Amino acid sequence: MTQQLALAIGLHQLATLVWIGGMFFAHFALRQAAQRTLEPPQRLRLMLGVFERFFVWVWLAVVVLWASGLWVFVGVYSGSMGWHVHTMMALALLMTALFAYIYFVPYRALARRVAEQDWPAAAERLGRIRAVILINLLLGLVTAGLGSAGRYLA
Ligand code: HEM
Repeated sequence: MTQQLALAIGLHQLATLVWIGGMFFAHFALRQAAQRTLEPPQRLRLMLGVFERFFVWVWLAVVVLWASGLWVFVGVYSGSMGWHVHTMMALALLMTALFAYIYFVPYRALARRVAEQDWPAAAERLGRIRAVILINLLLGLVTAGLGSAGRYLA
């Protein structure tokens, strides 16, 4: 059981690093550098290419987080865990919904606008993705903080 728990929490932690770290990098490093150095057509194509690759990893991270988290919560502790885990689940639900929104609405629209070379409309969709990613990043940092520090407060 201890080894299975170690595997589940290890995978949970890795998925957290991929999702939250990726959003942090995209928001605070890549986006600003691209804005300063590239013209809209190159910048929008670059960001679309980045999302095409990163979002595959985010879907994987979402599946791993829910599977490993629920396995520990239900399978090991039978649902009797502190408030920090309940809050983690609520925040994770919100983050998952926001990511699904990004993926199915503005990201798809961004791909269409880039294909049509409609740069102002593409930039508008990118702005929306940026805003929602920032919300998810802040939620993710709080969630990850709760996951690691919450047990000492519960
Ligand atoms: C964005 C989503 C999530 C993030 C960023 C996240 C992050 C974390 C982190 C960083 C830890 C600490 C791992 C460690 O011990 O080092 C953790 C623990 C945990 N997470 Fe999550 N988690 C997320 C979603 C979920 C979901 C959906 C569940 C489902 C029940 C869950 C259940 C748990 C449980 C049971 C623990 C162990 C808590 C403890 O031992 O006190 N997490 N999480």
